[in-house]
Amino acid sequence: CGIVGYTGRRQALEVAVEGLVRLEYRGYDSAGIALVEDGGLTVEKRAGKLANLRSVLAGRPTPWATTGIGHTRWATHGAPTDRNAHPHTDCRARIAVIHNGIIENFAVLRAELEGSGHKLLSETDTEVVAHLLEGFAGQGLAEAMRRVCRRLEGAFTLLAVSVDEPGVVVGARRNSPLVVGRGDGENFLGSDVAAFIAYTRDAVELGQDQVVELRPSGITVTDFSGAPAETRDYHVDWDASAAEKGGHDYFMLKEIAEQPQAVADTLLGRVGPDGLLTLDEVRLSEQELRDVTKIIVVACGTSYHAGLIAKYAIEHWAGLPCEVELASEFRYRDPILTRDTLVVVISQSGETMDTLMAVRHAREQRSRVLAVCNVNGSTISRESDAVLYTHAGPEVAVASTKAFLTQLVACYLMALYFAQVRGTMSGDEISEIIDRLAETPAKVSEVLATVEPVRALARSLAGERCVLFLGRHVGFPVALEGALKLKELAYMHAEGFAAGELKHGPIALIDEGLPVVVVVPSPSGRRVLHDKIVSNIQEIRARGARTVVIAEEGDSAVEPYADTLIRVPAVPTLLQPLVATVPLQVFACELATAKGHDVDQPRNLAKSVTVE
Ligand code: G6P
Repeated sequence: CGIVGYTGRRQALEVAVEGLVRLEYRGYDSAGIALVEDGGLTVEKRAGKLANLRSVLAGRPTPWATTGIGHTRWATHGAPTDRNAHPHTDCRARIAVIHNGIIENFAVLRAELEGSGHKLLSETDTEVVAHLLEGFAGQGLAEAMRRVCRRLEGAFTLLAVSVDEPGVVVGARRNSPLVVGRGDGENFLGSDVAAFIAYTRDAVELGQDQVVELRPSGITVTDFSGAPAETRDYHVDWDASAAEKGGHDYFMLKEIAEQPQAVADTLLGRVGPDGLLTLDEVRLSEQELRDVTKIIVVACGTSYHAGLIAKYAIEHWAGLPCEVELASEFRYRDPILTRDTLVVVISQSGETMDTLMAVRHAREQRSRVLAVCNVNGSTISRESDAVLYTHAGPEVAVASTKAFLTQLVACYLMALYFAQVRGTMSGDEISEIIDRLAETPAKVSEVLATVEPVRALARSLAGERCVLFLGRHVGFPVALEGALKLKELAYMHAEGFAAGELKHGPIALIDEGLPVVVVVPSPSGRRVLHDKIVSNIQEIRARGARTVVIAEEGDSAVEPYADTLIRVPAVPTLLQPLVATVPLQVFACELATAKGHDVDQPRNLAKSVTVE
């Protein structure tokens, strides 16, 4: 979501709307503003793009107010409707709150509030905050916010205004971004500097678990207990367009960099206090899941590759037969679908026509459909029987990166959930994997911190005509994804193969100097897989290939045969795609940039293909 806050001498409405225009890339499910003027609070909000809100505002007089907040939403809890749009208010409509993030314990808090007579109007996790703040109303807004934050679990940026304190905006931050813009007699808040770049380039970065009280005359920052807190001042030298991209040249680079956070967000709130997985949104009863005899995963493009990886996890952990199918092929065959077949569709946008048609086809045959989707309220998520949302946030670049990683996380969670319900794994075994999954955001960060040699390699290969990718087991879909990225972005011939198939054909393609990227499985997993691929590397190298080897830290067996060695952190075998895909994204992005291509909008491609 995009967040903006202002207090000063200007018309706050204008500042907020201008900020939202620049933040709309962060979410376009709904938009809303709250303005505080003497003795009153004005809240306007509308589902859909910001334009909808602007036309409402244009049609009615708005008060001159110099304090206000604005929000553009990317729905996580609750469909994208007017009612679920932010800001949310307390019972007396004296406090307004906007939020970016996920409040994990909102269900418990909501039950508590309703028990004590609060009436909540929306389905969002955010609204509880307005009502909790109301409970501490006598203590000042900043102190109330500190007290409320101490009760919240999850990730959040919160902004609040109150009729009782005109001229004050209070912000809070935990694991979600929030920056302060420092002006002269006015101050700003934004989920990123794009929100206020038209007014000031002097910014203050807030740390974790901090609360900021913003007045026209200054800012006060404390931790959640009220102790003064350290902040960092900096000067922004980006222009407005770079500011939207977080200082990156392309959205794709920004989205690659956001992957640790996206993975962490997708893991949030999935484990209950008893240590068991709770996929509440899945809306299929445990009995219905136990009755499933076969899973068919259906998707297109990068989402299809996530599905290919899901198959390994579903079969290994949940012991269920699983087929994976391209959506465009699925509905024109005669797939054998019964009431006990669960069709899992994977779609970032939730609007891909081929995938949507597969959903309808499966439901006509009486199969149940579970969608793994990034866009709340999208057509596929509405038409499916159940949804498991990825929390990647909006993905703007056409080539999918962070959505892919979060699809993997969602599929792993789903496979573990089936294992839990069907009893194919013990609680301890499931917890062990969940713990390893919880470490993956840090591991992805490690990969990102060490990708410079991958960039250099990509630039050196910009003159090549063809690159091959090989993998085995879950490394095979990773190879397919690496090849797809290169096709999409660099317009090069790139092909992914199962390494074991090499001898049945592809080896004939190997020629002197041909770059071949090989994804090597962990030697600590099934040793035989690792050893077989090391032999493959030797075979292709003996025929002149230039080998680019992606291997786990400490895997020394590959060293003699790698012309370029790219290290990734050790993770359990099935999770390796989370770390091994990242260098391939960077590789394709850098190679395409070196060729002068626009990586955000590659030729002939669309982000969401809504035709068959
Ligand atoms: C298009 C995009 C791809 C995406 C595919 C499936 O081809 O360019 O990046 O993987 O559609 O999209 P979906 O939104 O269904 O995941």
